[in-house]
Amino acid sequence: MYTTRWIAPSNIAIVKYWGKFDHQIPANPSLSFTLTHSHTDTKLTVIESKTTQNDDPTLEVFYDGISKPEFQPKILKFLQAILNEYPWLKGKLLKIETKNTFPHSSGIASSASGMAALACCIEDLHATYFVGQPFRWHKASESARLGSGSACRSVYGGFVQWGHSSDGEGSDFFATPVQEVHPNFKTIYDYILILDSGEKSVSSTVGHSLMKNHPYASHRFKQGKENTVKLKAILKTGDWSRFIELMESEALTLHAMMMTSTPPFILMKPKTLEAIQKIWQFRQTTNLPIGFTLDAGANLHLIFTADALEAVEQKLLPEVQYLCEQNTIIKDLIGRGPFKAD
Ligand code: DP6
Repeated sequence: MYTTRWIAPSNIAIVKYWGKFDHQIPANPSLSFTLTHSHTDTKLTVIESKTTQNDDPTLEVFYDGISKPEFQPKILKFLQAILNEYPWLKGKLLKIETKNTFPHSSGIASSASGMAALACCIEDLHATYFVGQPFRWHKASESARLGSGSACRSVYGGFVQWGHSSDGEGSDFFATPVQEVHPNFKTIYDYILILDSGEKSVSSTVGHSLMKNHPYASHRFKQGKENTVKLKAILKTGDWSRFIELMESEALTLHAMMMTSTPPFILMKPKTLEAIQKIWQFRQTTNLPIGFTLDAGANLHLIFTADALEAVEQKLLPEVQYLCEQNTIIKDLIGRGPFKAD
């Protein structure tokens, strides 16, 4: 019996991954930062199983102590995708005990943190017990990608790129941390306004596939490539106003792609637009570096630096909190990435 436990945070994309090819190859590079508090905590126990007839591992999955057989198909698909890299998984019984610090449907990508945590557990057992070699972060990221694209970015802390960009950096197979980041971006907050916690009408999987025959796909993929290179230059120079301009354009473009898909769909809610207006008004009157981004959902991510923290807490939140379900705002910030728990 082998066991390990890893904690992996979710991440928020500034340049969005939206559209992919076979084997989880992204249509354009993306760039995110990894969070701190919004994370998945996963304990993996691998048990020898003499009764298993076929080659696939068998699973027992518990979420917050409760058995969740409905989680098995997605995890099994993920394990099948990484069996070549980790052949010792074959025929084993895997007990997975997992929990998130953030609520389901909060607009925080639980597949990103969940797949990153599981990929780290598997790479750790591989390194420690099965081959006796150092932990390979790029392999954990590559595996996580096969579980969920955005998960490969959650294997590293700070700002992280996934997908090759025209400056010769990055890989489509795994994520890499962005090296040069100006001190202006060392502390960066993500306050998530929970404007709608209902189930999304269209899943990310369907959204990605609708980019296949999308009339604006080629332009969007080109823009995503350009924005990745532009964003790295912005991160280097520490230019907050250009950061916000690019971030908001990426968020609105993502939702514009949804609205112009066939069939079209809209994930923003009236409250999302209301909150955006409030943020824009607040920025105009205070001139503070505060912007927003959106994931594939209605909830708004308020992104700002330490300089704006006091103003956000004291002046902006009272203006937007009433829009949130049960006044819920999840307060997070940039973090260091996954780590092994004791
Ligand atoms: C809008 O990573 O959830 O959050 O690879 O199908 O699991 P799959 O998709 P997923 O898509 C994330 C889309 C996004 C943008 C992003 O995180 O880059």
